[in-house]
Amino acid sequence: MRLAGGGADIIGVDIVADIPGLHYHLASQRDLQETIELIERTGRRAIVQQADVRDMDSLTTVVNDGVAALGRLDIVVANAGIFSLGAATELSDTAWQDVLDVNLTGAWHTAKATVPHIAAGGRGGSIIFVSSMAALRPPLGLAHYSASKAGVVALMKTLAAELGPQFIRVNTVNPGTVDTPMIDNDTILGAFMPELEHPTRDDRQTRLGFRADQRPACSLAASAGRHQRRRVPRVGCGPPHHRGRPADRRGLPGQELT
Ligand SMILES: NC(=O)c1ccc[n+]([C@@H]2O[C@H](COP(=O)([O-])OP(=O)(O)OC[C@H]3O[C@@H](n4cnc5c(N)ncnc54)[C@H](O)[C@@H]3O)[C@@H](O)[C@H]2O)c1
Repeated sequence: MRLAGGGADIIGVDIVADIPGLHYHLASQRDLQETIELIERTGRRAIVQQADVRDMDSLTTVVNDGVAALGRLDIVVANAGIFSLGAATELSDTAWQDVLDVNLTGAWHTAKATVPHIAAGGRGGSIIFVSSMAALRPPLGLAHYSASKAGVVALMKTLAAELGPQFIRVNTVNPGTVDTPMIDNDTILGAFMPELEHPTRDDRQTRLGFRADQRPACSLAASAGRHQRRRVPRVGCGPPHHRGRPADRRGLPGQELT
């Protein structure tokens, strides 16, 4: 919405389906329609379609069709991601692989499908990967998620070096805890605050350090021409364990959830 409000036409993809084994719902057809309407309300065009970032062929088709319709591609936000909990050695192969496939391989697919279009424009551009604070300070119970998001940081650094000569900037945004369906559900809130049966909005705010959203950071990364950083901007305060307390005193989610 922030980019549309700033004058960009939008090509969007979302899986628009749940992935079995996750403890929360992914976007629905209704969410997709609402997104289209919100973009169009800004006066910009929206080509938003169903595609799974794990599927290179369908992702490429949506991107190619979108660029053909809109004429150019300048900014890419690789945002699709999933989240689950479990002790590292007790995760199922499926739980590990699903998170790596969506969060890391999906980010790579997104770059692979889009970079040729940015490069073809000859104007440079910007790619923003949504990583996580978990990439920088991995909490307990999130080995697969943290590894996937750390992989995204490594991917960003490599692409930034490879694409810099074409004036394509590549950055990650590494949010702390953001108030979205991924986090705001009974499984995660129960893991973060097991002693509270019904955490209130205030509990969530103070205990998890919820941020309202990460759009301003993505928008900044997209627009700031000189910000080819290959460093990792940190967004928000996040929950207390993201503020530097030693790992063995964190009391983090996931310890008791396997
Ligand atoms: N919410 C947080 O606290 C938080 C913190 C750090 C990083 N992040 C990251 O921010 C990004 C956005 O997450 P969110 O919090 O808005 O969660 P969300 O679940 O609301 O949004 C994620 C979106 O990705 C889509 N998606 C999932 N798998 C997909 C796939 N295989 N192909 C296409 N689309 C797919 C979902 O349908 C959903 O619309 C994710 O990469 C997440 O890891 C979130």
